[in-house]
Amino acid sequence: MHPSTRLSMIATHLSASSASAASLSSTTQSRALSSAQPPKMSSQPEHPTLLIPGPIEFDDAVLQSMSHFSLGYRSESHVGPGFVSTFGETISLVRKIFQTTDPSAQPYIISGSGTLGWDLVAANLVEAGEDVLVLSTGYFGDGFADCFETYGAKVTKLTGPVGGRPQLPEIEKALKSKKFKVITVTHVDTSTGVLSELEKLSELVQSVSPETLLVVDGVCSVACEEIAFDKWKLDGVVTASQKAIGCPAGLSISMFSGKAIKAFEARKTPPASYFASMKNWTPIMKNYEAKKPSYFATPSPQLIHALHTALTQILAKPLSERFAKHAEVSDKIKKAVTDLGLKQVASKPEDQAHGMTAIYLPETVKATELLPRLAKSGVVWAGGIHKEIAPKYVRFGHMGVSVTDPNRKDIDKALNALANGLSELGYQKA
Ligand SMILES: Cc1ncc(COP(=O)(O)O)c(C=O)c1O
Repeated sequence: MHPSTRLSMIATHLSASSASAASLSSTTQSRALSSAQPPKMSSQPEHPTLLIPGPIEFDDAVLQSMSHFSLGYRSESHVGPGFVSTFGETISLVRKIFQTTDPSAQPYIISGSGTLGWDLVAANLVEAGEDVLVLSTGYFGDGFADCFETYGAKVTKLTGPVGGRPQLPEIEKALKSKKFKVITVTHVDTSTGVLSELEKLSELVQSVSPETLLVVDGVCSVACEEIAFDKWKLDGVVTASQKAIGCPAGLSISMFSGKAIKAFEARKTPPASYFASMKNWTPIMKNYEAKKPSYFATPSPQLIHALHTALTQILAKPLSERFAKHAEVSDKIKKAVTDLGLKQVASKPEDQAHGMTAIYLPETVKATELLPRLAKSGVVWAGGIHKEIAPKYVRFGHMGVSVTDPNRKDIDKALNALANGLSELGYQKA
């Protein structure tokens, strides 16, 4: 994708949000004047409910754990050991989120956003001139391919039809056509809400090209879709703090298999990035997990505290319950959307994500008219960003506390706002 295309897509996305922001101040005003105040969703200042596919709403305790006095990160600084212990525990909690007990697998928590995960993969696991197979189901798959090209990899891209995904027989054919160092898949492409199936893909890679590393972009799936790192023989999953994990943005969180680390160690050329180099980060992560202070680049103690709280909350219950709850709420949303006579971008039920829904608008309704109406009802959704269909659809994120906290009524509020907004714009189900 040309960088200017990416920039203009992002501008479109932001303009939809700024329309919401504009009406947000009037919402706040009208609420202040109204005597019937809605119940407070939390101890946070009243604000419209952020139901885009990330960042998501925060739990109070996660937010409050960021409000921590300044902490050093080395033993010689006055509170070093406290932070070292929190960081070490957080790295161990990341193993649990990915359901891995394999000691050769290595977690990384690095300051940065989800995109840094792409750089970690492209800068460390692939050398210039090597072949990579990228399975694309939308904007973010295309972005991952761009990232590889930046580092000189030779990218073959298999793109699904809009709202679908590449199928196993064509992936098999591609895998048999040449030796790929890495195959990547976007577990949930946030531009389309298309979910990819990892277990069968892994079985295929194991049987056809077992040396190829299977890497998953889990930015919009970790902590709301099942990921069994060891069982599914994954070699890398990259994600970020701000989506289903429910922590403020600013952390790149990833897991790489022992096989991936070996592939890095066997490189003939040095990694093509300094900040994203596994050579620099692997010893730091190992040291912290062993509760030994270590420094390569300054971490964010406040964000690590928030991540520690978020992961502890998630792991307080079996992960299977969390995934089942996201699926249950997603099913309810998808049914409500169908009952309104609307279609989803992800056309087949088995391709539909459980933490977000991308919804085609009726032909008579524009996203630029609907989104501000939703914002007036206190709900923020996102516009479309897939280049072929961007103006035709909107995106509803349903991850984390909005799904799991029984005291919040975020989902019902959003579904009511959708029905009312469409009816105000003259839409009636045919
Ligand atoms: C699937 C996917 N991959 C990668 C990214 C990039 O993450 P970030 O915006 O945190 O850099 C996003 C962002 O929304 C995403 O949804």
